[in-house]
Amino acid sequence: MKEIIVSPSLLSADFGCLEKDLDMINRSDADWLHLDVMDGVFVPNISFGFPIMKYVQKLCKKPLDVHLMIVQPERYVAQVRDCGTMLMNVHYEASTHLHRTVQEIHQAGMKAGVTLNPSTPVSVLEDILCEIDMVLLMSVNPGFGGQKFIPRTIEKIKTLREMIDKQGLSTIIQIDGGVNAENAHTLITAGADSLVAGSAVFNAPDPLTVIRQLKNV
Ligand code: DX5
Ligand code: ZN
Repeated sequence: MKEIIVSPSLLSADFGCLEKDLDMINRSDADWLHLDVMDGVFVPNISFGFPIMKYVQKLCKKPLDVHLMIVQPERYVAQVRDCGTMLMNVHYEASTHLHRTVQEIHQAGMKAGVTLNPSTPVSVLEDILCEIDMVLLMSVNPGFGGQKFIPRTIEKIKTLREMIDKQGLSTIIQIDGGVNAENAHTLITAGADSLVAGSAVFNAPDPLTVIRQLKNV
């Protein structure tokens, strides 16, 4: 059975009481913590920035998986690194010179991820796949937690899995948006390696159990 990388998204946490939620994450089976940074330009919402990320870094014992929903993410490589980020994830649609951005992320000592919006086909990654550590397929339109999973994502996972296997790569496939304990099995069977879940975890009466369920689908 393959190891599933579970990365709860802090976006749905209680920001008035982050310490409590981070303590829950530390005690959980989660592998990483997913941080959603939004600029109000690339997506129609603003979430949080570096001061919060630095606070999270101080309290969180899990590696930080940072999903940047911002334009020109290449401008912030050093600042993202200085927040203790393990993996910096940029949108394909937001970085014109993606190859250079990926190189800069690696030079800064982080793993590099590339995210695709639901309307962007996986074929655009053909020539960058061998350079990156992870592909994040958005299964909702980015910007908000608690949206409904877009079913077409399943076909995208299968196509991407074939591309990765054909090139003999070990690139991680991560899925983000509308993921829960009910659809997790289908996503993993289609070829996903990592699941992000925000509302399914933080809005649950027992988040530790949901994280365990996602880990053991
Ligand atoms: C949405 C973010 C997600 C979000 C997922 O733009 O990228 O990480 O937190 O939330 P859920 O799991 O509630 O769909
Ligand atoms: Zn995200």
